[in-house]
Amino acid sequence: MQAPAQLLKSAAKVAVLTGAGVSAESGIPTFRSNGGYWQQHRFEDLATPQAFARDPKFVWTWYEERRRAIAQAKPNAGHLALVELEKQKPDFTLITQNIDGLHDLAGSKNLIKLHGDIWTLRCLKCGKERIDRSRLDDLPPYCECGGMLRPGVVWFGEPLPERALEKANAAVREADVLIVAGTSAQVYPAAGLIPLASAVIEINPEETDFSDEVTFSLRGTSAEILPRLL
Ligand code: OAD
Repeated sequence: MQAPAQLLKSAAKVAVLTGAGVSAESGIPTFRSNGGYWQQHRFEDLATPQAFARDPKFVWTWYEERRRAIAQAKPNAGHLALVELEKQKPDFTLITQNIDGLHDLAGSKNLIKLHGDIWTLRCLKCGKERIDRSRLDDLPPYCECGGMLRPGVVWFGEPLPERALEKANAAVREADVLIVAGTSAQVYPAAGLIPLASAVIEINPEETDFSDEVTFSLRGTSAEILPRLL
């Protein structure tokens, strides 16, 4: 742990990329590891614009179940360590693929959400967005303009928010070190950020496709390793 901790200590500019694994210890399932969503469901049925067009109630029921589960979850020691790191490093960018809002809840400030936010609802007709954490009883929900609302997340086959991706690219290129925590790094363009970094510390209980290429690959959970790295 000493060498990666030293690398982080000497870095003036730090970027972090997180994935579902960072929220695992808050009780939120991941997508591809044990018990992950995509081991029980086909993503084509739940996380594509085609699935939503086919059966919005079915897709919304799954999102609303996740919203209720996430509403019970609290940030864990990994989320909190990243808040602490941001206080230590004036040039700090946290890039997340997570839509659960736990980084915001923990208190992270300079946060880029690549895949949107499960608490945001967006109108398919007028395009208006609103943040709504309440229980949605009638599914699918509708906007005051009469249009149907969709979850404000990025689905497979959809582009990432352009400005967010540009900012993430710039932050990673400029960083002295990129920490990659809790992601299988299989989904692009997010995973494509990793090779752009000059030095990378990966934190994951399992090996990923990038483990052999990074500067340090640390085996363990983010709630365990991130606080020790600081
Ligand atoms: P995955 O489910 O693909 O990967 C989760 C990773 O976290 C795996 O590599 C696990 O080994 C690791 N992991 C599990 N528990 C951990 C822990 N306690 N601490 C640290 N790591 C742990 O999730 P993502 O990589 O985030 O996209 O998936 C990327 C995208 O695919 C998601 O944003 C979502 C999904 O489909 C969309 O919905 C667009």
